[in-house]
Amino acid sequence: MKHRLGIDFGTSNTAAAIMAGDKPYLIPVEEGKTTLPTSVFFDTHRANAVYGSAANAALIDGREGRFMRALKSVLGTPLMHERRLISYQRVTLIEVVALFLTTVKQRAEQATGLTIDSVLSGRPVRFHPDPDRNARAEVDLRSAYETAGFTDISFMYEPEAAAQTSTANLDGNYGLVVDIGGGTSDFTIFEKSSGQTRVIASHGVRVGGTNFDRALNLATVMPLLGYHGELKNEMCPGTHTAPNALFQDLATWEKIPFLYTPETQRFTKRYAKLALDKPPFERLAEVIEMEMGHDISFAVEAGKIARNASDSAEIDLSFIEPNLVVPLSGSILSTTLTPLTTQISDAARATLAMADLSSDDIGTVVYVGGSSLMRSVTEAITAVLPNAAQERTAAFTAVADGLAMAAAQSR
Ligand SMILES: Nc1ncnc2c1ncn2[C@@H]1O[C@H](COP(=O)(O)OP(=O)(O)OP(=O)(O)O)[C@@H](O)[C@H]1O
Ligand SMILES: [Mg+2]
Repeated sequence: MKHRLGIDFGTSNTAAAIMAGDKPYLIPVEEGKTTLPTSVFFDTHRANAVYGSAANAALIDGREGRFMRALKSVLGTPLMHERRLISYQRVTLIEVVALFLTTVKQRAEQATGLTIDSVLSGRPVRFHPDPDRNARAEVDLRSAYETAGFTDISFMYEPEAAAQTSTANLDGNYGLVVDIGGGTSDFTIFEKSSGQTRVIASHGVRVGGTNFDRALNLATVMPLLGYHGELKNEMCPGTHTAPNALFQDLATWEKIPFLYTPETQRFTKRYAKLALDKPPFERLAEVIEMEMGHDISFAVEAGKIARNASDSAEIDLSFIEPNLVVPLSGSILSTTLTPLTTQISDAARATLAMADLSSDDIGTVVYVGGSSLMRSVTEAITAVLPNAAQERTAAFTAVADGLAMAAAQSR
């Protein structure tokens, strides 16, 4: 019998599962853990690549090399196919994703003692709003699986996989999976009859926790690095505002590595000379030169999670300058995140409309994904479905479990 692995290749975290008897078995993709941060670090001195927590640790330890996270967000864009020098080798991002998936495959084979060349992979309902880009993203992901050595590759919408795992007693009503991850928010309305899951409608938007990080970063940290600051004109009197794009990229997980070029170093040093208020731009030049963009994103993400869990938290930037911290007030959190949580609740409403159902038809909301742990997200969904019961699944592994279950059913 062919063994088919379910892989939830996430923007932030990846998990994999395979059926063992009639239950999904989550692969220990890291020592003692069933999730693997979707991170890669190419170590320049050692000329090797490390993955997951080891990649995050290499970045935090300040090892020389290239760190990458949230590559799923780049799928479907021309950047995936450009061959470039990353640390010690020339590779495409498809090959980088393939290296990561090879690691997942090997760890699954080690854990099970099986040879696995068949995969049912999750995918968001929409990688991108643009249909061409959306279609290309799946082609890119397929190509990465092929390069990783999989020969039988199929895809399933992530929230449809999660719906398999729901044990809610729907009692004739419908369930709604709300999967809010790092890169996308995905929705599936389903019903259960005689243990079978039937999908009624699925929908998705490209909004997730990495967008929360980006918005908080732009609102609180980037102004300390010169965002919206004024530069003297070089050729004539007067001033102009520093270009926004640099700050926007520096606050975007997947774009950070592409800023570490001699050219960006050159013009950020120039900005530090031309700035009316120099200290922020001097910080910017240092952040670029010392490659601290990901450290900032990690600090913002940690601040976001801490603030969600308590009424006060700050973003700790002391690795840039001693005592540099940004308090995260409730009002900053709400003004920054509300436009994004509104997109999420609008998408939940759109899913109801696609199924031609009203909010009262949904008996249970099934929360999946790390960002479904954000209070602002549950508040936004509760406003759409005030009467539905709430089911909390394993936020980080329900999709992988459901993929393994579905992989076994479709044989
Ligand atoms: N305790 C928490 N509170 C709030 N947010 C959290 C918490 N833990 C993780 N997150 C956020 O959840 C996101 C990751 O969730 P998850 O692992 O479900 O995403 P993913 O599956 O990798 O992404 P996607 O499905 O969108 O491709 C990150 O943005 C992270 O900051
Ligand atoms: Mg996910």
